[in-house]
Amino acid sequence: MKFNIEIIRAEHMGFCFGVREAVDEVHKYVDMNKGQIYVLGMLVHNEFVIEKLLNKGVIFVSEEEVINEETPLKKGDMVIIRAHGTTQNVQKKLLEIGVKLIDMACIYVKSARDQVVIWEQRGYKSVFIGDKDHPEVKGITSYGMKPLIFSSLDELKNSDLDINEKWVFLFQTTYNKFIFQEINDYIINKFINYKVVKTICGATHQRQTAIEKLSQEVDAVFIIGSEQSSNTKKLYQISKKINEKSYLIKNKEDIEKYMLEGVTKVGVSAGASTPEELIAIIENKIKELID
Ligand code: F3S
Repeated sequence: MKFNIEIIRAEHMGFCFGVREAVDEVHKYVDMNKGQIYVLGMLVHNEFVIEKLLNKGVIFVSEEEVINEETPLKKGDMVIIRAHGTTQNVQKKLLEIGVKLIDMACIYVKSARDQVVIWEQRGYKSVFIGDKDHPEVKGITSYGMKPLIFSSLDELKNSDLDINEKWVFLFQTTYNKFIFQEINDYIINKFINYKVVKTICGATHQRQTAIEKLSQEVDAVFIIGSEQSSNTKKLYQISKKINEKSYLIKNKEDIEKYMLEGVTKVGVSAGASTPEELIAIIENKIKELID
């Protein structure tokens, strides 16, 4: 049976520019064949990307291994730091070994690091809103003197910060824009000497708004990406709430014919860590099933 199905992409989807730059950089150095390339941490939460790099001989090392001196790293090796950055301490350890360090931390992450330093030099105490266990948050806050970290408005409300102090508030780059607004309103009403620095990047919000719109306009939605990727999962959750026929697709084997039954328009989106190559593979598989 031949289906007649239109595939519609979300307006914003797939790699954000920070991740794209970091992944391209790793491929560039591997292809230059200048010796062993190491990457610090998970470059992206996507098995497809990681496997490709592993096949090219890239070695991944963790922050914990660097701190505990359990890596095979030696002087002159090249280490690329992922888009979400790392802590000052890890960078220091790597430089002590004598490796060539390429910091591919995204410009939003670098800017947040700079802002912590600038406002603390101006006499403000820093507060960071975000997930304290996330590598990006650990990395940015390591540039501050001793930033306080809160994950939510409730935590901030319960913190009892002295309103007579000067406070600077910064946010995880992927923080939800609507919750940011609520927190901002709270800060304006509560504090006297404060500065709110909006260190949020638009990529996550754009992808979420786009899937919210698309999932209302199609009969089924395929969200492409890894279960390890929190932003991919979030896209799936938003879509599923609106469109019952929403599916999280890791690879082409996940697509089954029943998903397309009775469907005339299928929406496609992908997390910020999903490469274009994988999106194209999935779209081709859909076309094969249609034919
Ligand atoms: Fe940068 Fe935003 Fe991506 S901070 S790494 S562009 S999600």
